[in-house]
Amino acid sequence: MPNSFYITTPIYYVNDVPHIGHAYTTIAADVLARWRRLIGEEVFFLTGLDEHGQKVQQAAAKAGVSPQEHCDRLTPQFRTLWEKLAISNDGFIRTTDGRHQAVVQRFLQELYDKQLIYRAEYTGWYCTFDERFWTEKDVDNGRCPDCQRPVEQLSESNYFFRMSQFQQRLLDHLEANPTFIRPESRRNEVLGFLQKPLEDLSISRPKSRLSWGIELPFDADYVTYVWFDALVNYVSALEYLPPQPSVDRWWPATVHLVGKDILTTHAVYWSTMLMALEISLPHAIFAHGWWTVDGEKMSKSRGNVVDPYAVIDRFGADAFRYFLLREIPFGQDGDFSHESFVGRINADLANGLGNLLSRTVTLIQRFCHGAVPAPDPSSITGLETDLQAAAESLMQKTLSHHLRRVEFNRTLEAIWGLVQLGNQYIDKTAPWVLAKNPDDAQRLHTVLFHAAETLRFLCLAVYPFMPDTAQEMARQLGLPYDFSRALLKAPVAWGDQESGATVVKGKALFPRVEAAASQSPAKPQPEASALSPKDEDNRITIQDFQKVELKVAKVLTAERVPKSNKLLKLQVDLGGEQRQIVAGIGKKYGPDDVVGKTIVVVANLKPAKLMGVESQGMVLAAGDQDVQGLVTFEDAGLEPGTKVK
Ligand code: MSP
Repeated sequence: MPNSFYITTPIYYVNDVPHIGHAYTTIAADVLARWRRLIGEEVFFLTGLDEHGQKVQQAAAKAGVSPQEHCDRLTPQFRTLWEKLAISNDGFIRTTDGRHQAVVQRFLQELYDKQLIYRAEYTGWYCTFDERFWTEKDVDNGRCPDCQRPVEQLSESNYFFRMSQFQQRLLDHLEANPTFIRPESRRNEVLGFLQKPLEDLSISRPKSRLSWGIELPFDADYVTYVWFDALVNYVSALEYLPPQPSVDRWWPATVHLVGKDILTTHAVYWSTMLMALEISLPHAIFAHGWWTVDGEKMSKSRGNVVDPYAVIDRFGADAFRYFLLREIPFGQDGDFSHESFVGRINADLANGLGNLLSRTVTLIQRFCHGAVPAPDPSSITGLETDLQAAAESLMQKTLSHHLRRVEFNRTLEAIWGLVQLGNQYIDKTAPWVLAKNPDDAQRLHTVLFHAAETLRFLCLAVYPFMPDTAQEMARQLGLPYDFSRALLKAPVAWGDQESGATVVKGKALFPRVEAAASQSPAKPQPEASALSPKDEDNRITIQDFQKVELKVAKVLTAERVPKSNKLLKLQVDLGGEQRQIVAGIGKKYGPDDVVGKTIVVVANLKPAKLMGVESQGMVLAAGDQDVQGLVTFEDAGLEPGTKVK
């Protein structure tokens, strides 16, 4: 029987459209769910919506619709976002579902019958935003200690859950289970909170004040406090949501992922509710940090709320998923800035992983007719054994070590360690040089096999984080992977993939984001100019210019094209590949003048034949009819393949 893994996100309030905070937890949960499925575990991944309470009632009133209509209208905003972000949740719960409401009422009745719920008059300071009472000593200058909004004094009769009775049991549980609350710093916060006497919890709201909620089964004048209702979702969903509802099979949850602001409600309210209901506690609650935007708290009034839809449309879901989990340790706060996002896309994704895939596929196409070659055991060197050892240790140890500890950024750091090693391997072995000497054919095959094998490991490793990217990598590498299967159930071993797979050149995994084209995703895009270039003169837009791929190249060899005084045939190193270029510079330069020069080449020009010789690009030079000067770089240390802009 495979291990079962039940993971949840908070259920999100439908008072507004989803933002980066909602996306963050959901992506994190998705990565863990995908990884567990990949290693052969049974997974139930639950997310959903918290549809009752004052916030939703107020939002509906503002929109001039009934609360239910408001919820129904906003639900697709979340569902569609999860689809766009490739979220693989198994269940989606809505608390207005009658089946959930019935479970909440059953639990309330059970606690009431056990006399763990009682009615009392209560006077306290009420925070509408947080929907909770505070005592005199908690209130901070007339403001809520949690959200700093003004509180109002309210006196009303309510129903209370005897939470205080469970304080010691909860402390004992925390003591006996050091990984129940994670990370450690958050566990200490909860322990600190439990040093003060725990009060009973008001679990009702009089309908006269708030009508949008689940009616108490024992008093029709009240609705259930939204947090009691919402927390129950983690168990109620298992009673009725397909596939195969089963509390026994999935409960206790392996981990509830939550934001740090809702840790107390989970660690204290939910745990004590479960104790009172005699249901076991989840194995772990992991509280993550919060995102600021450009160093500021994200808020509607500041106008800096990051809209995940806009980010995905401009940069793709996988880049967003990568950035959120790579940038900061999961338990800590982080800052979302346009510069750091674009920096990561360009450095890690475009120049790192994207480049490794594209140069490997190009080299295999150019030198091995597009089929992954078989390695030659006699030509294996320390470079290959190091690469293999690094890849195997990543797949067999590091991934699982970090992911079990919910250390996404460390996992990605380790994966990108292999990306870097792969790129360095190609630089050091220089397959385009090996290709020139027939005696090096076996060595060339060994090198290209090892590059392809590294990418196969990387494809499996990045899948939980970037599922679409992994699919595209598999396609280009000719790997017949079906990621819905437990591909990592058995340890993946170096060389267990048959060589001979046919590689396919495809689109760049991650196009570089240029400064001119980039703009903060938090800010609206300027309107595109109505004036098209054609209307005005022969000027082009920056986008037109960006279609031309200019790259640094190094001239390896040069010779005159027979019977031509104008044409030189050059072999150039373009970083990861060698190209033949026929250049009309022969009247000005002889072959010896140009060998070793660092020049600029148009790299995406369609090949053409000049005097019967194929040219796979064009060099940049000054002059009109006659060439007067070749464009070169004085800095001969520039890496071939570097973009010129
Ligand atoms: N409905 C409750 C949860 C009930 S769970 C039984 C709720 N909903 S929420 O929509 O307000 O917030 C959901 C999550 O978003 C929380 O985990 C919160 O931490 C997270 N975030 C909201 N803003 C955030 C950031 N700026 N950064 C990261 N996460 C943030 O609370």
